[in-house]
Amino acid sequence: MEQSLIKKNPQFDNHELVSFFFDKETGLRGIIAIHSTKLGPAVGGTRYFPYNSDEEALEDVLRLSRSMSYKCILAGVKYGGGKCVLIAPSQNKIKAKEYLEAYGRILKEYSTKFFTGEDVGMSQNDIEILGKITPNIIGTKAKAGDPSPWAALSTYYAIRGALKFLYGDTSLKGKKIIIKGLGKVGMELARLANEEGAILLVSDVDKKRTDQALKSFKNVSVIAPSEFSSHECDIFAPCALGKDITDYIAQKIEVKIICGAANNQLVSEKEGVTLFKRGVVYVPDYVANGGGLINVVAELSNGGYNKENVLQKCKNIEDEVVTILKESKETDTAPSEIADRIAKRALEQ
Ligand code: NAI
Repeated sequence: MEQSLIKKNPQFDNHELVSFFFDKETGLRGIIAIHSTKLGPAVGGTRYFPYNSDEEALEDVLRLSRSMSYKCILAGVKYGGGKCVLIAPSQNKIKAKEYLEAYGRILKEYSTKFFTGEDVGMSQNDIEILGKITPNIIGTKAKAGDPSPWAALSTYYAIRGALKFLYGDTSLKGKKIIIKGLGKVGMELARLANEEGAILLVSDVDKKRTDQALKSFKNVSVIAPSEFSSHECDIFAPCALGKDITDYIAQKIEVKIICGAANNQLVSEKEGVTLFKRGVVYVPDYVANGGGLINVVAELSNGGYNKENVLQKCKNIEDEVVTILKESKETDTAPSEIADRIAKRALEQ
Protein backbone atom coordinates (compact mmCIF):
# COMPACT_ATOMS: atom_id res chain seq x y z
CA MET A 1 0.00 0.00 0.00
CA GLU A 2 1.30 3.46 -0.87
CA GLN A 3 2.59 5.66 1.96
CA SER A 4 0.23 8.46 0.94
CA LEU A 5 -2.79 6.13 1.36
CA ILE A 6 -1.60 5.12 4.82
CA LYS A 7 -1.21 8.76 5.85
CA LYS A 8 -4.65 9.61 4.48
CA ASN A 9 -6.29 6.98 6.68
CA PRO A 10 -8.42 8.82 9.28
CA GLN A 11 -6.84 6.68 12.00
CA PHE A 12 -3.25 7.53 11.00
CA ASP A 13 -2.65 10.06 13.82
CA ASN A 14 1.07 10.51 13.02
CA HIS A 15 2.08 6.91 13.65
CA GLU A 16 5.85 6.57 13.91
CA LEU A 17 5.91 3.41 11.83
CA VAL A 18 3.49 1.36 9.73
CA SER A 19 4.95 -1.69 8.08
CA PHE A 20 3.23 -4.26 5.85
CA PHE A 21 4.86 -7.67 5.58
CA PHE A 22 4.22 -10.95 3.80
CA ASP A 23 5.83 -14.31 3.34
CA LYS A 24 5.12 -16.18 0.13
CA GLU A 25 5.96 -19.66 1.43
CA THR A 26 3.59 -19.64 4.41
CA GLY A 27 0.90 -17.16 3.34
CA LEU A 28 1.79 -14.87 6.25
CA ARG A 29 0.43 -11.36 5.73
CA GLY A 30 0.21 -8.63 8.32
CA ILE A 31 0.84 -5.07 9.44
CA ILE A 32 2.90 -3.76 12.35
CA ALA A 33 1.95 -0.28 13.55
CA ILE A 34 3.89 1.72 16.12
CA HIS A 35 2.02 4.77 17.31
CA SER A 36 4.55 6.19 19.77
CA THR A 37 7.82 5.30 21.45
CA LYS A 38 8.07 8.65 23.23
CA LEU A 39 7.62 7.17 26.72
CA GLY A 40 9.33 3.84 26.01
CA PRO A 41 9.33 0.94 23.54
CA ALA A 42 5.95 0.16 22.00
CA VAL A 43 3.86 -2.68 23.41
CA GLY A 44 0.68 -4.24 22.07
CA GLY A 45 -0.74 -7.65 21.25
CA THR A 46 -0.92 -9.47 17.96
CA ARG A 47 -4.39 -9.98 16.53
CA TYR A 48 -5.11 -12.80 14.06
CA PHE A 49 -8.30 -12.15 12.12
CA PRO A 50 -9.77 -12.91 8.65
CA TYR A 51 -9.96 -9.29 7.50
CA ASN A 52 -11.79 -8.74 4.21
CA SER A 53 -9.17 -6.34 2.85
CA ASP A 54 -5.82 -4.69 3.58
CA GLU A 55 -7.69 -1.42 4.18
CA GLU A 56 -9.83 -2.99 6.88
CA ALA A 57 -6.74 -4.49 8.54
CA LEU A 58 -4.91 -1.15 8.34
CA GLU A 59 -7.75 0.75 9.97
CA ASP A 60 -7.92 -1.81 12.78
CA VAL A 61 -4.18 -1.86 13.49
CA LEU A 62 -3.97 1.95 13.54
CA ARG A 63 -6.91 2.33 15.95
CA LEU A 64 -5.61 -0.44 18.17
CA SER A 65 -2.02 0.83 18.36
CA ARG A 66 -3.10 4.37 19.20
CA SER A 67 -5.33 3.08 21.96
CA MET A 68 -2.31 1.13 23.29
CA SER A 69 -0.46 4.46 23.65
CA TYR A 70 -3.43 5.83 25.56
CA LYS A 71 -3.77 2.65 27.60
CA CYS A 72 -0.12 2.76 28.69
CA ILE A 73 -0.56 6.29 29.98
CA LEU A 74 -3.78 5.57 31.86
CA ALA A 75 -2.34 2.34 33.28
CA GLY A 76 0.70 4.26 34.50
CA VAL A 77 3.31 2.21 32.60
CA LYS A 78 6.20 3.81 30.74
CA TYR A 79 5.72 2.26 27.32
CA GLY A 80 4.34 3.36 24.00
CA GLY A 81 1.56 2.01 21.81
CA GLY A 82 1.96 -0.55 19.06
CA LYS A 83 0.01 -3.43 17.57
CA CYS A 84 0.28 -6.10 14.92
CA VAL A 85 -2.55 -7.63 12.91
CA LEU A 86 -2.16 -10.85 10.97
CA ILE A 87 -4.57 -11.21 8.05
CA ALA A 88 -5.78 -14.78 8.61
CA PRO A 89 -5.98 -16.76 5.37
CA SER A 90 -9.14 -18.54 6.61
CA GLN A 91 -11.50 -18.70 9.61
CA ASN A 92 -9.35 -21.54 10.94
CA LYS A 93 -7.60 -20.42 14.12
CA ILE A 94 -4.95 -23.16 13.95
CA LYS A 95 -1.75 -21.83 12.48
CA ALA A 96 1.08 -23.85 10.95
CA LYS A 97 4.30 -23.78 12.96
CA GLU A 98 6.11 -22.49 9.83
CA TYR A 99 3.62 -19.59 9.62
CA LEU A 100 4.34 -18.56 13.22
CA GLU A 101 8.07 -19.01 12.75
CA ALA A 102 7.98 -16.70 9.71
CA TYR A 103 6.13 -14.12 11.82
CA GLY A 104 8.69 -14.55 14.61
CA ARG A 105 11.50 -13.74 12.17
CA ILE A 106 9.70 -10.54 11.07
CA LEU A 107 9.21 -9.52 14.71
CA LYS A 108 12.90 -10.01 15.43
CA GLU A 109 13.63 -7.07 13.14
CA TYR A 110 11.73 -4.85 15.59
CA SER A 111 13.10 -6.40 18.75
CA THR A 112 14.24 -3.16 20.39
CA LYS A 113 11.18 -1.07 19.68
CA PHE A 114 8.12 -3.37 19.70
CA PHE A 115 7.08 -5.98 22.27
CA THR A 116 4.04 -8.11 21.48
CA GLY A 117 1.92 -10.90 22.92
CA GLU A 118 -1.54 -12.41 22.81
CA ASP A 119 -4.70 -10.79 21.45
CA VAL A 120 -7.85 -12.06 19.70
CA GLY A 121 -7.18 -15.15 17.59
CA MET A 122 -3.77 -15.88 19.14
CA SER A 123 -3.34 -18.69 21.66
CA GLN A 124 -0.89 -19.17 24.50
CA ASN A 125 0.66 -21.93 22.42
CA ASP A 126 1.26 -19.51 19.52
CA ILE A 127 2.98 -17.14 21.94
CA GLU A 128 5.24 -19.92 23.22
CA ILE A 129 6.33 -20.74 19.63
CA LEU A 130 7.04 -17.06 18.90
CA GLY A 131 8.95 -16.73 22.18
CA LYS A 132 11.44 -19.36 20.98
CA ILE A 133 12.25 -17.33 17.86
CA THR A 134 12.44 -13.75 19.05
CA PRO A 135 13.06 -12.00 22.40
CA ASN A 136 10.36 -9.33 22.01
CA ILE A 137 7.50 -11.62 23.05
CA ILE A 138 5.67 -10.89 26.29
CA GLY A 139 3.25 -13.12 28.19
CA THR A 140 4.98 -16.48 27.76
CA LYS A 141 4.14 -19.11 30.42
CA ALA A 142 7.60 -18.91 31.96
CA LYS A 143 7.18 -15.18 32.59
CA ALA A 144 3.97 -13.14 32.97
CA GLY A 145 1.72 -15.74 31.32
CA ASP A 146 -1.77 -15.22 29.91
CA PRO A 147 -2.89 -11.55 30.24
CA SER A 148 -6.61 -12.38 29.89
CA PRO A 149 -7.47 -13.00 33.57
CA TRP A 150 -5.78 -9.69 34.43
CA ALA A 151 -7.75 -7.84 31.75
CA ALA A 152 -10.88 -9.37 33.29
CA LEU A 153 -9.76 -8.35 36.79
CA SER A 154 -9.10 -4.72 35.85
CA THR A 155 -12.47 -4.60 34.05
CA TYR A 156 -14.07 -5.91 37.23
CA TYR A 157 -12.38 -3.13 39.25
CA ALA A 158 -13.41 -0.57 36.63
CA ILE A 159 -17.05 -1.69 37.02
CA ARG A 160 -16.69 -1.30 40.79
CA GLY A 161 -15.34 2.24 40.23
CA ALA A 162 -18.36 3.13 38.08
CA LEU A 163 -20.72 1.67 40.73
CA LYS A 164 -18.93 3.63 43.44
CA PHE A 165 -19.29 6.85 41.42
CA LEU A 166 -23.01 6.26 40.84
CA TYR A 167 -24.12 4.74 44.14
CA GLY A 168 -21.24 5.18 46.59
CA ASP A 169 -21.07 1.39 46.84
CA THR A 170 -18.89 -0.94 44.78
CA SER A 171 -20.94 -4.10 45.23
CA LEU A 172 -22.16 -6.09 42.21
CA LYS A 173 -24.55 -8.13 44.37
CA GLY A 174 -27.96 -8.29 42.69
CA LYS A 175 -26.78 -6.16 39.76
CA LYS A 176 -27.83 -7.33 36.30
CA ILE A 177 -24.89 -7.50 33.93
CA ILE A 178 -24.92 -8.34 30.22
CA ILE A 179 -21.64 -9.85 29.05
CA LYS A 180 -21.23 -10.07 25.30
CA GLY A 181 -18.41 -12.45 24.35
CA LEU A 182 -17.46 -15.30 26.66
CA GLY A 183 -13.89 -15.77 25.52
CA LYS A 184 -10.79 -15.73 27.66
CA VAL A 185 -11.69 -12.38 29.23
CA GLY A 186 -15.50 -12.42 29.19
CA MET A 187 -15.77 -15.81 30.88
CA GLU A 188 -13.44 -14.75 33.69
CA LEU A 189 -15.31 -11.47 34.14
CA ALA A 190 -18.55 -13.48 34.33
CA ARG A 191 -17.00 -15.64 37.04
CA LEU A 192 -15.83 -12.65 39.10
CA ALA A 193 -19.18 -10.86 38.81
CA ASN A 194 -21.21 -14.00 39.52
CA GLU A 195 -19.08 -14.89 42.51
CA GLU A 196 -20.09 -11.55 44.00
CA GLY A 197 -23.79 -12.21 43.37
CA ALA A 198 -24.37 -10.48 40.02
CA ILE A 199 -27.16 -11.74 37.74
CA LEU A 200 -25.68 -12.66 34.38
CA LEU A 201 -27.18 -12.29 30.89
CA VAL A 202 -24.57 -13.71 28.56
CA SER A 203 -24.14 -14.10 24.82
CA ASP A 204 -21.63 -15.55 22.44
CA VAL A 205 -21.74 -16.63 18.81
CA ASP A 206 -20.17 -19.90 19.95
CA LYS A 207 -22.77 -22.09 21.69
CA LYS A 208 -20.07 -24.08 23.49
CA ARG A 209 -19.17 -20.91 25.40
CA THR A 210 -22.74 -20.13 26.48
CA ASP A 211 -23.29 -23.80 27.42
CA GLN A 212 -20.19 -23.61 29.60
CA ALA A 213 -21.54 -20.47 31.31
CA LEU A 214 -24.89 -22.17 31.99
CA LYS A 215 -23.02 -25.06 33.57
CA SER A 216 -20.56 -22.95 35.60
CA PHE A 217 -22.64 -20.11 37.03
CA LYS A 218 -25.85 -19.56 39.00
CA ASN A 219 -28.35 -16.85 38.12
CA VAL A 220 -27.36 -16.90 34.48
CA SER A 221 -29.40 -16.75 31.27
CA VAL A 222 -28.36 -16.71 27.65
CA ILE A 223 -29.44 -14.01 25.19
CA ALA A 224 -28.75 -13.69 21.46
CA PRO A 225 -25.68 -11.54 20.64
CA SER A 226 -27.85 -9.02 18.76
CA GLU A 227 -30.14 -8.60 21.79
CA PHE A 228 -27.62 -6.93 24.06
CA SER A 229 -29.30 -3.55 23.72
CA SER A 230 -32.86 -4.84 24.11
CA HIS A 231 -32.64 -5.69 27.80
CA GLU A 232 -32.76 -3.23 30.64
CA CYS A 233 -29.88 -3.89 32.97
CA ASP A 234 -27.36 -2.23 35.25
CA ILE A 235 -24.17 -2.95 33.35
CA PHE A 236 -23.31 -3.84 29.77
CA ALA A 237 -19.84 -5.37 29.43
CA PRO A 238 -18.73 -5.69 25.79
CA CYS A 239 -16.11 -8.46 25.75
CA ALA A 240 -16.22 -9.67 22.14
CA LEU A 241 -14.76 -7.62 19.28
CA GLY A 242 -14.98 -3.83 19.03
CA LYS A 243 -17.53 -1.38 17.63
CA ASP A 244 -20.57 -2.56 19.60
CA ILE A 245 -21.53 1.03 20.40
CA THR A 246 -22.86 2.42 17.15
CA ASP A 247 -24.73 5.71 16.87
CA TYR A 248 -28.03 3.79 16.98
CA ILE A 249 -27.03 1.76 20.05
CA ALA A 250 -25.70 4.84 21.88
CA GLN A 251 -29.10 6.49 21.46
CA LYS A 252 -31.10 3.44 22.43
CA ILE A 253 -29.32 1.32 25.02
CA GLU A 254 -31.02 1.25 28.45
CA VAL A 255 -28.19 0.63 30.89
CA LYS A 256 -26.63 2.58 33.72
CA ILE A 257 -23.03 1.60 32.99
CA ILE A 258 -21.10 0.39 29.95
CA CYS A 259 -17.81 -1.11 31.02
CA GLY A 260 -16.18 -4.04 29.27
CA ALA A 261 -12.86 -5.40 28.09
CA ALA A 262 -13.27 -5.24 24.30
CA ASN A 263 -10.95 -2.80 22.57
CA ASN A 264 -12.46 0.03 20.50
CA GLN A 265 -16.03 -0.29 21.74
CA LEU A 266 -17.17 3.07 20.38
CA VAL A 267 -17.54 3.34 16.61
CA SER A 268 -16.37 6.95 16.91
CA GLU A 269 -15.83 9.61 19.58
CA LYS A 270 -19.36 10.88 18.91
CA GLU A 271 -20.96 7.85 20.60
CA GLY A 272 -19.11 8.61 23.84
CA VAL A 273 -20.73 12.06 23.86
CA THR A 274 -24.19 10.66 23.05
CA LEU A 275 -23.95 8.21 25.95
CA PHE A 276 -22.83 10.97 28.30
CA LYS A 277 -25.74 13.23 27.30
CA ARG A 278 -28.15 10.35 27.91
CA GLY A 279 -26.73 9.76 31.38
CA VAL A 280 -25.16 6.40 30.56
CA VAL A 281 -21.83 6.04 32.35
CA TYR A 282 -19.29 4.82 29.79
CA VAL A 283 -15.92 3.70 31.15
CA PRO A 284 -13.34 4.08 28.35
CA ASP A 285 -12.33 0.62 27.17
CA TYR A 286 -8.61 1.19 27.39
CA VAL A 287 -8.94 2.26 31.02
CA ALA A 288 -11.02 -0.79 31.96
CA ASN A 289 -8.97 -3.47 30.21
CA GLY A 290 -5.53 -2.14 31.22
CA GLY A 291 -4.85 -5.15 33.48
CA GLY A 292 -3.68 -7.32 30.57
CA LEU A 293 -1.07 -4.73 29.67
CA ILE A 294 -0.06 -4.14 33.30
CA ASN A 295 0.56 -7.87 33.68
CA VAL A 296 2.66 -8.40 30.56
CA VAL A 297 4.85 -5.33 30.89
CA ALA A 298 5.59 -6.31 34.50
CA GLU A 299 7.98 -8.93 33.13
CA LEU A 300 10.03 -6.18 31.44
CA SER A 301 10.60 -4.25 34.67
CA ASN A 302 14.10 -4.16 36.16
CA GLY A 303 13.16 -6.08 39.30
CA GLY A 304 11.41 -8.80 37.28
CA TYR A 305 7.77 -9.90 37.39
CA ASN A 306 6.00 -9.21 40.69
CA LYS A 307 2.43 -10.51 41.01
CA GLU A 308 1.57 -8.34 44.03
CA ASN A 309 2.49 -5.17 42.11
CA VAL A 310 0.34 -6.28 39.20
CA LEU A 311 -2.60 -6.93 41.51
CA GLN A 312 -2.24 -3.53 43.16
CA LYS A 313 -2.07 -1.71 39.81
CA CYS A 314 -5.25 -3.50 38.68
CA LYS A 315 -6.99 -2.49 41.91
CA ASN A 316 -5.88 1.13 41.34
CA ILE A 317 -8.08 1.19 38.24
CA GLU A 318 -11.15 1.37 40.51
CA ASP A 319 -10.05 4.77 41.88
CA GLU A 320 -8.84 5.95 38.51
CA VAL A 321 -12.33 5.36 37.08
CA VAL A 322 -13.88 7.32 39.95
CA THR A 323 -11.47 10.22 39.25
CA ILE A 324 -12.28 10.25 35.52
CA LEU A 325 -16.03 10.09 36.14
CA LYS A 326 -15.90 12.88 38.74
CA GLU A 327 -13.93 15.10 36.35
CA SER A 328 -16.44 14.26 33.65
CA LYS A 329 -19.30 15.39 35.87
CA GLU A 330 -17.54 18.55 37.05
CA THR A 331 -16.53 19.66 33.57
CA ASP A 332 -19.66 18.42 31.78
CA THR A 333 -17.45 16.44 29.42
CA ALA A 334 -17.84 12.80 28.34
CA PRO A 335 -15.52 10.37 30.23
CA SER A 336 -14.19 9.13 26.88
CA GLU A 337 -13.03 12.68 26.13
CA ILE A 338 -11.53 13.11 29.61
CA ALA A 339 -9.45 9.92 29.25
CA ASP A 340 -8.35 10.86 25.71
CA ARG A 341 -7.37 14.31 26.97
CA ILE A 342 -5.22 12.88 29.78
CA ALA A 343 -3.45 10.61 27.28
CA LYS A 344 -2.95 13.27 24.59
CA ARG A 345 -1.57 15.68 27.17
CA ALA A 346 1.02 13.11 28.31
CA LEU A 347 2.05 12.40 24.71
CA GLU A 348 2.44 16.07 23.88
CA GLN A 349 4.53 16.98 26.95
P1 NAI B 1 -11.45 -14.36 22.71
O1 NAI B 1 -11.20 -14.55 21.25
O2 NAI B 1 -10.95 -15.35 23.68
O3 NAI B 1 -13.01 -14.17 22.98
C1 NAI B 1 -13.87 -13.45 22.19
C2 NAI B 1 -15.23 -14.13 22.34
O4 NAI B 1 -16.22 -13.32 21.70
C3 NAI B 1 -15.29 -15.51 21.68
O5 NAI B 1 -15.84 -16.47 22.58
C4 NAI B 1 -16.18 -15.27 20.46
O6 NAI B 1 -16.93 -16.43 20.10
C5 NAI B 1 -17.07 -14.16 20.95
N1 NAI B 1 -17.68 -13.36 19.92
C6 NAI B 1 -17.15 -12.94 18.74
N2 NAI B 1 -18.05 -12.20 18.06
C7 NAI B 1 -19.16 -12.14 18.83
C8 NAI B 1 -20.42 -11.52 18.67
N3 NAI B 1 -20.73 -10.80 17.60
N4 NAI B 1 -21.32 -11.67 19.66
C9 NAI B 1 -21.04 -12.40 20.77
N5 NAI B 1 -19.86 -13.01 20.96
C10 NAI B 1 -18.94 -12.88 20.00
O7 NAI B 1 -10.89 -12.89 23.04
P2 NAI B 1 -10.49 -12.31 24.45
O8 NAI B 1 -9.04 -12.50 24.66
O9 NAI B 1 -11.46 -12.77 25.48
O10 NAI B 1 -10.70 -10.75 24.20
C11 NAI B 1 -11.99 -10.16 24.20
C12 NAI B 1 -11.86 -8.67 23.94
O11 NAI B 1 -11.06 -8.08 24.96
C13 NAI B 1 -11.19 -8.30 22.63
O12 NAI B 1 -11.79 -7.15 22.09
C14 NAI B 1 -9.76 -8.00 23.01
O13 NAI B 1 -9.13 -7.10 22.13
C15 NAI B 1 -9.97 -7.37 24.36
N6 NAI B 1 -8.81 -7.50 25.24
C16 NAI B 1 -8.27 -8.73 25.50
C17 NAI B 1 -7.18 -8.83 26.33
C18 NAI B 1 -6.58 -10.16 26.66
O14 NAI B 1 -5.65 -10.19 27.46
N7 NAI B 1 -7.09 -11.27 26.11
C19 NAI B 1 -6.55 -7.64 26.95
C20 NAI B 1 -7.26 -6.41 26.65
C21 NAI B 1 -8.32 -6.37 25.82
